Amino acid sequence: MSYTVNTKIQEAFAKDVQEGLSAKFKHIPSKYFYDKTGDSLFQAIMKMPEYYPTRCEYEVFKIQKKRLTAAFQIQNNEIDLIELGAGDGYKTKVLLLHLIETGINVNYIPVDISANVLDILEEGLRKEIPGLKVNGINADYFDALSDLNMISEKQKVILFLGSNVGNLSNDSAIEFFSKIASLCKKGDMLLTGFDFKKDPRVIQLAYDDPTGITRNFNLNLLTRMNRELGANFIVDQFSHYPVYDPISGTAKSFLVSLKKQGVNFQALDKSFHFGKWELVHTEISQKYDLEIISNLAEKSGFNLINNYFDCRFFFVDSLWSSFE
Ligand SMILES: C[S@@+](CC[C@H](N)C(=O)[O-])C[C@H]1O[C@@H](n2cnc3c(N)ncnc32)[C@H](O)[C@@H]1O
Repeated sequence: MSYTVNTKIQEAFAKDVQEGLSAKFKHIPSKYFYDKTGDSLFQAIMKMPEYYPTRCEYEVFKIQKKRLTAAFQIQNNEIDLIELGAGDGYKTKVLLLHLIETGINVNYIPVDISANVLDILEEGLRKEIPGLKVNGINADYFDALSDLNMISEKQKVILFLGSNVGNLSNDSAIEFFSKIASLCKKGDMLLTGFDFKKDPRVIQLAYDDPTGITRNFNLNLLTRMNRELGANFIVDQFSHYPVYDPISGTAKSFLVSLKKQGVNFQALDKSFHFGKWELVHTEISQKYDLEIISNLAEKSGFNLINNYFDCRFFFVDSLWSSFE
């Protein structure tokens, strides 16, 4: 299946840009990084030597897939796997393949805001795991969540991998997880990937690689606004500025205006002014420790069942259930 333009996402993009650029401290939500170019740049980021989270979580799945499958306590040999922000499913495929080889009847439901990446994912799955049932949903996962029990009536495991959670503040994460907990039935579980706090220099480099791929990923937001909202950003007049604060464990990325300038948006019938050195906040990537993770589970109404680590303890996939 090929996904067509989702007008709801397009409208939300225009509204969020208008609100974000009108604010005192300008900001644009990171979910808008992912157009066709953004998807391909993110795939390049996942392969960078500096971007350790993908390799760590891949290792978790490779090493822990049997234990994870046992912990899911799958009833009647069938399960719905709902993945929020699935991307190209590089790591999920390890788990999907294992479940299929074990004889489990899997219905895989990837949800992603990028129609393009869902096409890439489904094409890959057709080749690599033929016969797998896939029902992708092109939507913002905050919206899709309300329909969770319409999407899936069977026992389900919800996957939220790759430290997608890190894009949320802790308060928003608790709100998001609490909503999931309220929609879970007995036997349902949530598996979330969390990136641990570690050597700050290792984290800083993951968002500021010397080859400039993360730079291009951040700046691509300007090109997307030019194309989709009729803006006239001159991309060279902005720069990528990532910063990691090891005390709060928060990595943030900004676009910095290199001069005083105005940018017109035809689609919004509006211009925005950027001062010299004015920042536009584009991403937050929160880092965690085990105490924060168990607090998040508890405050959201989940019980932490088990944590699954890579061998360097850089990353953890934490399995939660809302029932004893
Ligand atoms: C950092 S990538 C991670 C992809 C995958 N989870 C992984 O671990 O490799 C984030 C993915 O989530 C999607 N995404 C981000 N925010 C989203 C949202 N609010 N709703 C739906 N998808 C979202 C993006 O399109 C992208 O494919």
